[in-house]
Amino acid sequence: MQFRDEIPTPALLLDLDAFESNITAMAAHLRARNKGFRPHGKTHKCPEVARALVRAGAIGICAARLSEAEVFADHGIRGLLVTTAVVGRGKIERAVALAARAPDTMFCVDEEKNVREIDAAAAARAAGEPIRLAVDLYFGRTGVVPGQPALELVRVIESLPHVAFAGLQAYDGEAAHTTPFDARGTRTRTSLARAIETRRLIEQDGIACPMVTGGSTGTYRFDAEIDGITELQPGSFVFMDLDYERIGGPDGPQYHDFKNALTVVTTVVSRPPGFAIVDGGYKAFSTDRPFTPRPVGLEGVTYGWAGDEHGRLGMEHASRDLKVGDRIEFIPPHCDPTVNLYDAIHALRGDRVEAVWPIAARGKSQ
Ligand SMILES: Cc1ncc(COP(=O)(O)O)c(C=O)c1O
Repeated sequence: MQFRDEIPTPALLLDLDAFESNITAMAAHLRARNKGFRPHGKTHKCPEVARALVRAGAIGICAARLSEAEVFADHGIRGLLVTTAVVGRGKIERAVALAARAPDTMFCVDEEKNVREIDAAAAARAAGEPIRLAVDLYFGRTGVVPGQPALELVRVIESLPHVAFAGLQAYDGEAAHTTPFDARGTRTRTSLARAIETRRLIEQDGIACPMVTGGSTGTYRFDAEIDGITELQPGSFVFMDLDYERIGGPDGPQYHDFKNALTVVTTVVSRPPGFAIVDGGYKAFSTDRPFTPRPVGLEGVTYGWAGDEHGRLGMEHASRDLKVGDRIEFIPPHCDPTVNLYDAIHALRGDRVEAVWPIAARGKSQ
């Protein structure tokens, strides 16, 4: 048996009590509102986390990339939705092969040529179900403009024999981190109203639209109240991070619907005058946010980057002294890119390592 203090650093730790409480809270919230739960796997890239979500009632798992979806499928996860377009011949052939192994997999599309290429690749198979395509709606990044342009693309899908229309993907990434809380609500309601209107147009055209999927950790409360949204695809709620803590909630500037379950543990490796140097730097934490990792159980210090392998803690106002060999845990700025730096998650019950879960889709960015 291994204990927290024996794990070589830097390492990714998961507090199982907090993690399970996050999953239970989201699953119960959606169940009570009759919404499907297809959480995003880009956050964790870990089949064991996906399994925990499926045990809690998830109908499937989203994957940001084809290669991520392939890993989940290899580990027996079904109900996959690949939320970014699969572009180029090689990838399309792999998508068709994935659909043969896991036929309920859905792929997002936003362009007619891409749809026709997928149809042609599927036609080249000996046999098989049509490939299920979800039309991705544009809210500022990828997607086809909601309304008539989206309907036109759905008609193209419907006209082809080897693809089938599965529904609409309505993810507004900007909405997820809009502050304050009320503005977030206004933003996501406005976006999702356009998705619902698109669904109405499609159905008026005589085409069934069984799925409208979207939402995030930041917007789930609003999205789950909207008629016509069939399921939600939040991701970060399983772990949480500093970024999400800062978006604000209904009662103030901190968002505390979910608990911080993920930390990075480091060791103090040097103690020059005034500073403690830990063995976690750019390669241990995400660096895409304008704020740095926050130490747990240590007040009065701010983490500063000190290179690829090191971080610097100014000790002048520290709430306690540190010496070489001490271990410090940090809440990462952004969970998704932090997880992608590690091979495994150490799942802890208290101080005991209950399991080590491979992050099997780590680095699967293709
Ligand atoms: C398409 C899509 N859906 C859902 C999510 C999950 O969002 P969050 O981690 O903010 O809950 C993301 C995150 O980037 C996403 O890209």
